[in-house]
Amino acid sequence: MAWCLGGFRAPRVSGPPYPRPPRLRVLREADLGKVFISKPALVTSSPRARRLKFRPPPGPGLTGRDRVGTDVAKLATPEVKTKEKADIGDLPGVGPATAEKLREAGYRDLLSIAVAAPGELAEVADLGEAVAMKVINAARQLADVGGFETGDVIMERRAQVGKLTTGSKALDELLGGGVETQSITEFYGEFGSGKTQIMHQLAVNVQRPKDDGGLEGHVVIIDTENTFRPERITQMAEALDLDAKEVLTRIHVARAFNSHHQMLLVEKATELAREYPVRLLVIDSLTAHFRAEYVGRATLANRQGKLNTFMHDCLRFGDLNNAAIAVTNQVHAKPDAFFGDPTRPVGGHVVGHTATFRLYLRKSKGGRRIARLIDSPHLPEGEAVINVIEDGIRD
Ligand code: GTP
Ligand code: MG
Repeated sequence: MAWCLGGFRAPRVSGPPYPRPPRLRVLREADLGKVFISKPALVTSSPRARRLKFRPPPGPGLTGRDRVGTDVAKLATPEVKTKEKADIGDLPGVGPATAEKLREAGYRDLLSIAVAAPGELAEVADLGEAVAMKVINAARQLADVGGFETGDVIMERRAQVGKLTTGSKALDELLGGGVETQSITEFYGEFGSGKTQIMHQLAVNVQRPKDDGGLEGHVVIIDTENTFRPERITQMAEALDLDAKEVLTRIHVARAFNSHHQMLLVEKATELAREYPVRLLVIDSLTAHFRAEYVGRATLANRQGKLNTFMHDCLRFGDLNNAAIAVTNQVHAKPDAFFGDPTRPVGGHVVGHTATFRLYLRKSKGGRRIARLIDSPHLPEGEAVINVIEDGIRD
């Protein structure tokens, strides 16, 4: 029943997801020249087509097929619209119950299915692998998988990228000027290494004028560990001579109770960003819920799939709002490592590849922290020493 609530959708029939209405079939581009030019009477079934009938004959340089092709492209728009509105439930082989299972597992749009692995989909939706493959193929036909952009368009978008100061000059320099918008910056490290402190500092700094390294915006914090402390914000704001009460009104915090909730909250953040100029999205912590909920090897594919969806939702948020995304991550011990640091960030390759910048924080003598830039698309690896003090993050 639930699948009917989303709108008035015709019951699903087997066969192609969108049976083409007969009129549109007559107007298929391949048939057009013939149909319109030799038998115009055939295309009189809609007002628009009737108008077409009285068009003057094609002018010089334009073939009949060209003209008709153009007109029919317009006539065919209803079909394109349907395709845009297509939903998981419209895929062949996906009934209401399967659609529900897929949505629950975090597959909310056609694109997420189009890029899924057959085994993973088969597991979460109790499908056979062959059916899963069929569903994935259908989603690939229907999903808007995006297109190519030329370098100059990307350059133009890059020109909009803002940099948010961390409070420490050395750390800003390591990051090429600060935490970038339209990117995910991951801070990982053991407990007490200062990740949450940096998130608090960014939440204050983002509100500052651009000349002071801010982005003049609001911040959304998705707090999974209940570690957001307004008192700490007050200390940091007062250290910068800001009105702490006002600063707090521009920080929107939500507790995420589990990984599903965490995923939903990014959608909520998108709604919030229509009302306020949100320039920073904080996820503290990115992986804690996923790590706690998915235990054991068998759940790994599922967990990684969801984490991937979640991080891409965050990236989309950053692109849409020209916002910076700052996430924290824990480490786990890797006892089989013979050389170097035996700790590794949680989340494996999914987090590693999706985070644009990765910083490893570790405790040093006298309350200092060492931040090491591990991965960045255009900056060299390096280290910066920072201090966590009552005023916040400093050199
Ligand atoms: P987990 O979330 O447990 O993984 O750790 P984390 O990396 O988020 O740690 P967090 O950022 O919460 O850092 C906590 C540490 O920051 C404390 O152990 C203190 O050393 C330091 N700290 C926090 N508040 C203050 C403060 O007001 N003054 C000073 N000097 N240090 C502080
Ligand atoms: Mg923390």
